Amino acid sequence: MMQAVGLRIDGLSKRFAHGVKGEVYAARDVSLDVQPGEFLTLLGPSGCGKTTTLRMIAGFERPDAGRIFFGGRDVTDLAANDRGIGFVFQNYALFPHLSIFENIAYGLRVRGQDGDSIIRAVSEVMALVGLSGYEQQFPAQLSGGEQQRVALARAIVIRPRVLLFDEPLSNLDAKLRVQMRAEIRALQRRLAITTVYVTHDQEEAMAVSDRIALMNRGTIVQVGTAQDLYHRPASAFVAQFVGRVNMVAGHLEQSASVSALGRHFVLHEIPPGVASGDPVRLVLRPEGFALSRGPIANGAVAAKVLSRTFLGEKIEYELDCLGERLQSVRYNAGAGALFEEGETIALRCTDETVIALKEENP
Ligand SMILES: Nc1ncnc2c1ncn2[C@@H]1O[C@H](COP(=O)(O)OP(=O)(O)O)[C@@H](O)[C@H]1O
Ligand SMILES: [Mg+2]
Repeated sequence: MMQAVGLRIDGLSKRFAHGVKGEVYAARDVSLDVQPGEFLTLLGPSGCGKTTTLRMIAGFERPDAGRIFFGGRDVTDLAANDRGIGFVFQNYALFPHLSIFENIAYGLRVRGQDGDSIIRAVSEVMALVGLSGYEQQFPAQLSGGEQQRVALARAIVIRPRVLLFDEPLSNLDAKLRVQMRAEIRALQRRLAITTVYVTHDQEEAMAVSDRIALMNRGTIVQVGTAQDLYHRPASAFVAQFVGRVNMVAGHLEQSASVSALGRHFVLHEIPPGVASGDPVRLVLRPEGFALSRGPIANGAVAAKVLSRTFLGEKIEYELDCLGERLQSVRYNAGAGALFEEGETIALRCTDETVIALKEENP
């Protein structure tokens, strides 16, 4: 196995001319360190600059400013072909007139490898991605999932130093997406290739990544593990993009508490730059509420069930609690445990489940 290389991007910027808005920054001063063998995902809403950043790493797009390093070596001025990257596109980008074998062999032929070593390398990766036997088929004869496996095989057969994915699963149905993302993750672990993966799907990002870099409007707003982003969001944008969330307004009071939902929440961490008396936003995750029938006592507050969505393994309830609309979720504990629309139930939440954020636009 080859030694995995680290990837560093330093201050990458790219502007495009925009018909209506004039010049727009697709990426603005983007810096990032990816460890050797790490699986890092660029996550963010459509148009935030993920593809542009990935294409600059690949060498398909020239940055206006900034440098790119593979294993400490500056590759900014190298053409894509000379960087040692494998790239998996959203639309697979297979050659329709070439067999599956020749599609996968293409990068090796371009590099002038001899016939025997091509057969060996292609057979090996075809087995790795579960496509043995498909050598003489053509892309149009394959399902979407199989075509994506061909694209993956083609990307790894050249033994890239850096593997890049741009929304590789968006053309697949939901079940296949879940299966393929697990396969991609397992293969990446096995080959230990430094990987940058682009998606707008937060669940996919959480499922596959060692770390996630969340982007918004051309910049990286937070980098961390899925758990970091979920439990310690740096801003309301992060809290809302990663998982579902309730935001409740309040003020920081003496002794680090905030009153909301009829009780005082004692914060375990005061957000930076917030002083006593300042407005804050409390982040409450839907799974952080304990819901029950029975008396409203022992720190509970009354909540009315506005709607119920039965999803099988879990049930989502929309609640009204002292005028706040709250999203909550519970695991299914059997038919008798379901709450009815219009019912008033007891809601509890503990200090541990609450995060406070600085109010950004008070
Ligand atoms: N070739 C291009 N010409 C003009 N504008 C572009 C071009 N590529 C991207 N953009 C603009 O740059 C911004 C970021 O695009 P992109 O990197 O594709 O975002 P994402 O992949 O996160 O959806 C968008 O506003 C997009 O319209
Ligand atoms: Mg994109």
